[in-house]
Amino acid sequence: MFHTALNRRFLDFIVDEGIDSALSGQRVCDKLENSHGYTLKDGNRRRMIAVALDFLSECGNRRGGNYIADGVNCEPAHGSLDGFEGEYNFFGRCIDYAGEYLRGGKPLYDFNGGCVGIWDEFLGNPEFEYARGVLANKLGRRAIHRALVLCYGPGYDIYHLQRCSEDVKITAVDYNGAFYETARAKLLKPDAVQWVHSDKWGGFGHPLPFEDGYFDAAVFSCADPYIAGGLRGFVYEDVYRVLARDGLLGVITRGYPDAQCGADKLYRMAALCHDFAESVCEGWQGFYSAGQTRLLFEQIGFDINAVTLNECLWMAAKP
Ligand SMILES: C[S@@+](CC[C@H](N)C(=O)[O-])C[C@H]1O[C@@H](n2cnc3c(N)ncnc32)[C@H](O)[C@@H]1O
Repeated sequence: MFHTALNRRFLDFIVDEGIDSALSGQRVCDKLENSHGYTLKDGNRRRMIAVALDFLSECGNRRGGNYIADGVNCEPAHGSLDGFEGEYNFFGRCIDYAGEYLRGGKPLYDFNGGCVGIWDEFLGNPEFEYARGVLANKLGRRAIHRALVLCYGPGYDIYHLQRCSEDVKITAVDYNGAFYETARAKLLKPDAVQWVHSDKWGGFGHPLPFEDGYFDAAVFSCADPYIAGGLRGFVYEDVYRVLARDGLLGVITRGYPDAQCGADKLYRMAALCHDFAESVCEGWQGFYSAGQTRLLFEQIGFDINAVTLNECLWMAAKP
């Protein structure tokens, strides 16, 4: 129901902005620049239009060269959002702002101190929490002594790992210290965590400040779409490097729905809606398709153990 409501909201934005009426014929971006004042030269804003097109294409009603927005099975939700308010409101605000952003406005949210509460409320949503719980339970079945939480944000990943693997020694790294207090406050054992910040790690594209083979497991959730395409190989090769033999990598993300996408239709639309909405946040690069992730992991040498939850949860081992 939550995704249905959000898909409807995204579709309303596309129709209210009149993006759908610009879609017949060629050179959609040129038209939108002229008619809407969008600034689509930069990669991210231009990519957002492609995401909107893919979303309308998923809607499946195309007549006479025009996408027909009505008749799509994403009616306004009835009833409560049952705990999904944080996620719904976050994406809703992003979509509401998207027109201004497409006209050249600044990113709505970044990862500096002022937005920590907003990220905390959004990232604690039941959908992501469920995925984190599944991942932590899977890791908890293994003997894990040292685990890396990469990009710990408000601390949910650490919380779940501590809950499922009591004796695990966690190293938590993020590229700035903005989330530190919020993450600590979430934990029963904050002092059992080794916290690593920007004085030791400069973010994606910089080597992790750990020895080869140091960790039995690494957890990386909801941050893969913030890695620029050109750096993605480096980032995952470096994670591979710091894992011990048989070490496990768990990633939570979404797959950009491509032709091979195994996810169901509602989920595919939800992934596109999510991608478009979070695009107004600083540094967002977009979801990578499951095919891209599979290829990258295999090239690096990971054994992919499981891809589950509509291609959201990846478990890969260093053989
Ligand atoms: C959406 S939050 C996810 C946080 C956490 N893993 C979770 O699931 O709650 C994205 C995370 O990526 C980090 N991040 C964003 N851009 C980054 C960059 N360029 N380099 C390193 N980390 C980055 C942020 O600091 C934040 O912790």
